[in-house]
Amino acid sequence: MAISIDNVGRIFFINQAELVAIRDINLQIEDAEIVSIVGLSGCGKSTLLKIISGLDHPTSGVVSIDGREITKPSHKDVGIIFQESRLFPWSTVERNIEFGLSNGVSRAERKQSVQEHIKLVGLTGFEKALPSQLSGGMKQRVSLARTLINRPKALLLDEPFGALDAFTKISMQKEVLRIWEKEKTTMILVTHDIDEAIYLGDRVVVMTAKPGKIKTIVPVQLPRPRDRTSVDFAILRKEVYEEFFESDEIPTDYSI
Ligand SMILES: Nc1ncnc2c1ncn2[C@@H]1O[C@H](COP(=O)(O)OP(=O)(O)O)[C@@H](O)[C@H]1O
Ligand SMILES: [Mg+2]
Repeated sequence: MAISIDNVGRIFFINQAELVAIRDINLQIEDAEIVSIVGLSGCGKSTLLKIISGLDHPTSGVVSIDGREITKPSHKDVGIIFQESRLFPWSTVERNIEFGLSNGVSRAERKQSVQEHIKLVGLTGFEKALPSQLSGGMKQRVSLARTLINRPKALLLDEPFGALDAFTKISMQKEVLRIWEKEKTTMILVTHDIDEAIYLGDRVVVMTAKPGKIKTIVPVQLPRPRDRTSVDFAILRKEVYEEFFESDEIPTDYSI
């Protein structure tokens, strides 16, 4: 599904003061494309994703998917995954995944679909486990399955692996790629991890803050799966870092 973001802006009012969270965002995302977005905390990344998912509305501009304007959330069109897995702690893995499924699906179909998605995210054998019995990476796999079960045409990921350790993170990135190869879901990935952005994205969008704007877009023309230790990868990493640190707004003690 293609996503078109045209002149999107979002202003919040805090005690009658205007806060321009994002301004003049223009981005055209092709069907089956993966776009990574990097930027400092507060530059409006989550605001943009919420608008694309229909959970929030722009103050100006339009977001459309396959030519239709988005006005409200639709789980069948756009799925969203957050940093915290947001699972029900009292429900098993399979119940949490089933909960994501839209109404109007027969019992037998529900059961089958839940099983398929447990397999898709590699959690076979953990159907009856509770979230407290799972690692952070496994919980995010459950979130992925719960969102993917409606076969959304686009998947928005808001720092989905930010709370995971480096090794789990890498295995989750591979998992996302495996799912993308199978489903060809259009994806937008917000991350503060530049390697993750380059490893997964067809393009890396660099945003700056106050107001949140697109600074530049770096295309990633490396074949997949990408080798993080390659020279070509290092060249792109340098390019994105330089875009990041070129901006005067960034405090010198800011770590990314
Ligand atoms: N619901 C809201 N009400 C008021 N201000 C908000 C709201 N959501 C976000 N903001 C403000 O908008 C700016 C962008 O926030 P956000 O989109 O969360 O940034 P990011 O995800 O890049 O860290 C921040 O200054 C934040 O305080
Ligand atoms: Mg955010």
